[in-house]
Amino acid sequence: MKKLVASILSLAVVAGIGGGALAQEAAPAAHHEEGATPHYPLKEPKEIDWTFAGPFGHYDKGQLQRGLKVYTEVCAACHSMNLVPFRTLSELGYSDAQVKTFAANYEVQDGPDASGEMFTRKAVPSDYFPSPYPNAEAGAAANNGAAPPDMSLLAKAREVERGFPQFVFDIFTQYQESGPDYIYSLLTGYEEPPAGFQVPAGAHYNPYFHAAAAFAMPKPLSDDQVTYDDGSPQTVDQYAKDVSSFLMWASEPHLEERKRTGFMVMIFLLIFTVLIYLTKRSIYSRTDH
Ligand code: HEC
Repeated sequence: MKKLVASILSLAVVAGIGGGALAQEAAPAAHHEEGATPHYPLKEPKEIDWTFAGPFGHYDKGQLQRGLKVYTEVCAACHSMNLVPFRTLSELGYSDAQVKTFAANYEVQDGPDASGEMFTRKAVPSDYFPSPYPNAEAGAAANNGAAPPDMSLLAKAREVERGFPQFVFDIFTQYQESGPDYIYSLLTGYEEPPAGFQVPAGAHYNPYFHAAAAFAMPKPLSDDQVTYDDGSPQTVDQYAKDVSSFLMWASEPHLEERKRTGFMVMIFLLIFTVLIYLTKRSIYSRTDH
């Protein structure tokens, strides 16, 4: 319904103004025509029904654990998460001993030691998810010139503009899931390029990428790649949902608390408004006017 209203309105705007830029926006199919300036992303992110959406949103711990598995087994080969300490994994339902064992799988640089040398050691819970590359340049050199971005805040850092009138509806539906919707769409959105489209060397066609039609990340997920032990389907679709939820948690671990507090504040303001109104009535009822 929202989409329908949006397209009717944007058609009306285009018809009224006939502006070149707006016309291109409304006709993404025409992107590959010669001379047209494409508007990215070519396709809008798919909207997923996340458990953490809405005023009572909450994380599904089982899903976050699966997402962590996908991240460690797949994404961590290229992406760091250097603002997320291992110790926070206890919020996903792991015991302190489990977190310790998990952290010990990683090596981090420490030092300098007494002789001034840097050294590597096994990670402990207070360390952060390290980068697989020594620096961003090394990451770029290994990935056709594009460094894989750090994932700590990725789910909050990527937002695709929703345009009018969707952003007005979003205020009422409290839509804040643009980041995970985008990541999910990107992971499931690899396609064959349309006829005549030249994919640059080392790039991969993906109409959901926000900055171009093709980008440097090869399709990271395929069916049955990661083994789930809770019976969840081992499909690209499920992996993408789980890892997007996990990245949302990494970016905003206190989301549940924020939503709960927000709700209590609204209730408080409502009661406070009624009290103020009654106070005003009782004070002014004694005043002649
Ligand atoms: C082989 C290395 C590699 C693996 C594995 C990998 N990525 Fe990437 N990823 C990249 C590179 C390189 C880029 C930068 C692409 C660019 O800017 O063109 C990137 C960019 C991204 C982006 C940002 C896109 C944007 O809007 O800028 C997201 C989101 C992402 N990766 C998610 C994932 C997830 C989730 C996984 C695990 C399921 C994963 N990646 C696995 C190499 C990788």
